[in-house]
Amino acid sequence: MTIAPYPAARFRRARRSAAIRDLVRENSLSPADFIWPVFVRDGEGIEEPVPSMPGVMRRSVDRIADAAREAHSLGIPAICLFPYTDPSLKTENCAEAWNPDNLSNRATRAIKAAVPEIAVMTDVALDPYNINGHDGFVVDGEIVNDATVEALVKQALSQAEAGADIIGPSDMMDGRIGALRAALEGAGHSNVMLLSYAAKYASGFYGPFRDAVGASGALKGDKKSYQMDPANSDEALRLVERDLTEGADMVMVKPGLPYLDICRRVKDAFGAPTFAYQVSGEYAMIQAAAQNGWIDGEKVMLESLMAFKRAGCDGILTYFAPAAARILNGQ
Ligand code: PBG
Repeated sequence: MTIAPYPAARFRRARRSAAIRDLVRENSLSPADFIWPVFVRDGEGIEEPVPSMPGVMRRSVDRIADAAREAHSLGIPAICLFPYTDPSLKTENCAEAWNPDNLSNRATRAIKAAVPEIAVMTDVALDPYNINGHDGFVVDGEIVNDATVEALVKQALSQAEAGADIIGPSDMMDGRIGALRAALEGAGHSNVMLLSYAAKYASGFYGPFRDAVGASGALKGDKKSYQMDPANSDEALRLVERDLTEGADMVMVKPGLPYLDICRRVKDAFGAPTFAYQVSGEYAMIQAAAQNGWIDGEKVMLESLMAFKRAGCDGILTYFAPAAARILNGQ
């Protein structure tokens, strides 16, 4: 890198006008960068606010189809479903997770019928269906790995059957990517993609999400025996490499902003399609400060999303997707 001495080099020349700033900008943000996570509940005609996530709703299946139409018209390529499961359907064996008619699968079918062009992503993990709120089966106080993977396979196959385009295993069990890939291939779903939550940390930033899906009250203990230690970085690279070799098509880092260093390392090391999840707590912090008038919410939203692009991400899962898309589209 060669830099002329001042005054030959004046960096402010490149910042002088909007036209010049537009010209030299290194990264860009567009609605095509977003995956929009949405919460589904039962009933009809319902949009129920999630208190800890101002601006986010739990929607009934018919309203989810409307949301998908809106997303598509805004240029958002994908929507990601999270079910708010009725507590009476939560059990120890989590059978609702692979019920072909569960909320997530009904929503997938409704979206695919309404807007076949939009990509539907679904979540693979047992927590919405588990009486104790964990992502895996609990046996004698332990979250067991291999039996959970077998259940995740059944769950993923029911999602693929319902029409999911992208399956997102968020459970952090070992060996699940290989098992899921083999099962999908075996069942003729060879085009269904796996977006692995490869580097998912045991984070305090998931609090509002657990409220949104009704898992907060249920969760006994913490998820530290399967989600990553926030102190680790090399381990994230080993996990991403492992998942790519097992057949993940895309990988994710989660949470987002506090882990941008991981995003950059993952992108540089593997060059695979890399996503970050700007999680519920990150969203809630920005919304809360904006509602108090302490920050300019729109500015901070767009700045936070651009940060992911700068860190090397190809896309972002964000609850801001429709709001950001509207601004980016000049609407
Ligand atoms: C659970 C799951 C979580 C999120 C996505 N899938 C929470 C958790 O691991 O407890 C968090 C998303 C968010 O906070 O926005 N499988």
